[in-house]
Amino acid sequence: MDIKSKIRVIEDFPKPGISFKDITTLLLDGNAYKEAIQTCIDQLEGVDYNVIVGPEARGFLMGAPMSVMTGKGFVPIRKPGKLPGETLQHEYELEYGKDVLEVHKDAIKPGDRVLVVDDLLATGGTAKAVCELIEKLGGEVAGLAFLIELNFLNGREVLEGYNVYTVVGYD
Ligand code: PRP
Repeated sequence: MDIKSKIRVIEDFPKPGISFKDITTLLLDGNAYKEAIQTCIDQLEGVDYNVIVGPEARGFLMGAPMSVMTGKGFVPIRKPGKLPGETLQHEYELEYGKDVLEVHKDAIKPGDRVLVVDDLLATGGTAKAVCELIEKLGGEVAGLAFLIELNFLNGREVLEGYNVYTVVGYD
């Protein structure tokens, strides 16, 4: 199946000049969604990981099904104020302003081998922030898996030194 053909592209959203990759059309087609998840898992053959971590919100749409299908646990990374237990926060720079992500401190154990999962690799800022949270808690980033990569934003450079896996690329 051509997974890329299931992703709808909407021009000038959320701002003029942005070509938005809309995965809701993929999600709506259960077989295509399942195949996208399976492809994401298959490309990780040989990667040794025991837990999957994904950032809110679209990271949940990839990470949770991958967790169910592989039998590995899932750790949600959330925007501030959503997690009830003791959390670790990480603040990171956006093009305009700052953003904060947080994780439950007891969700990652020292020595855990963590797979970071998200729908999209754009600038790499979100994924880098997730890696920093994991490493501060003593986890090791075994790899990062994305459904979509925007090649022209060079997110891989921000993630240099990590193993990055993507299914569909846009130039
Ligand atoms: C999107 C996407 C990634 C991130 C990628 O999330 O789901 O998490 O942006 O961009 P980056 O590589 O430049 O950091 P968004 O912040 O739009 O939030 P959402 O998942 O809640 O829609």
